[in-house]
Amino acid sequence: MLAVPYPRLHITTSGTRRVIKVLGIDIGGSGVKGAPVDTLRGKLIEERHRIETPQPATPQALTRVVARLAKHFDWKGPIGCAVPAVVKDGCLRTAANISPNWIGVDAAERFGRATGCRVSVINDADAAGYAEMRFGAGRRQRGLVIIATLGTGIGTALFIRGHLVPNTELGHITLRGRDAETWAAARLREEESLSWPRWARRLDAYLHLMHAYFWPDLFILGGGVSKKADKFLHLLTVPALVVPARLQNDAGIIGAALAYEHERGRPKRRKALR
Ligand code: BGC
Repeated sequence: MLAVPYPRLHITTSGTRRVIKVLGIDIGGSGVKGAPVDTLRGKLIEERHRIETPQPATPQALTRVVARLAKHFDWKGPIGCAVPAVVKDGCLRTAANISPNWIGVDAAERFGRATGCRVSVINDADAAGYAEMRFGAGRRQRGLVIIATLGTGIGTALFIRGHLVPNTELGHITLRGRDAETWAAARLREEESLSWPRWARRLDAYLHLMHAYFWPDLFILGGGVSKKADKFLHLLTVPALVVPARLQNDAGIIGAALAYEHERGRPKRRKALR
């Protein structure tokens, strides 16, 4: 599971209870959301704040938004950020739904400079996965679990015996001759005004393909649509257990905060890889 080395530096006390606070920020295709998180309990400590994702979502524009969020909470402590991209050592390596100018940029360093805080950066689906595995629908699940976040794109997080295999990017596998997320993501339901059953057929085809390759014990479906699971879950025929995410829209924020502890504890890899 998350072998999280909690640094003593970030432990404060509230009454008799230890509180480890990290500002979690989830950068999505349409909104950037943040809130201080109690990482021991997986709970937001304050009401979350949302800012529209700037278009185009360039490094400059998104850095300004992250700085505004930190200012909103008057934040001086650690920050964990989730981004819709492959992340290696704080550096973005892909940019499917944000500006391609992000590729090769060290987001952790950039956000750190703009906020004056220590910042870690992780893939958004991996963040949601951490949160669900620790506090949500994946709690105590020891087998192979795939968390799929359905939104502007499809993000995936794959856990085996509680351990994350990072940056899986299974939203981009080929389905019906195209990039799966451009056909089955939740965005398509709205853009093409699909009925719930029609969109559910697409999602089902996607899950069948994933199932044929990975045979997971459990699928956890996240993203905004997880709140409306009653509209489509019963229409799925994939032969695996499928449940909605329990932390719903907060999973990215909570997971980004959890990942701060995890990522900052890891040694840096070779710079040449960037
Ligand atoms: C990106 C992933 C991300 C997912 C959900 C995809 O387009 O490639 O990195 O996790 O969208 O935001």
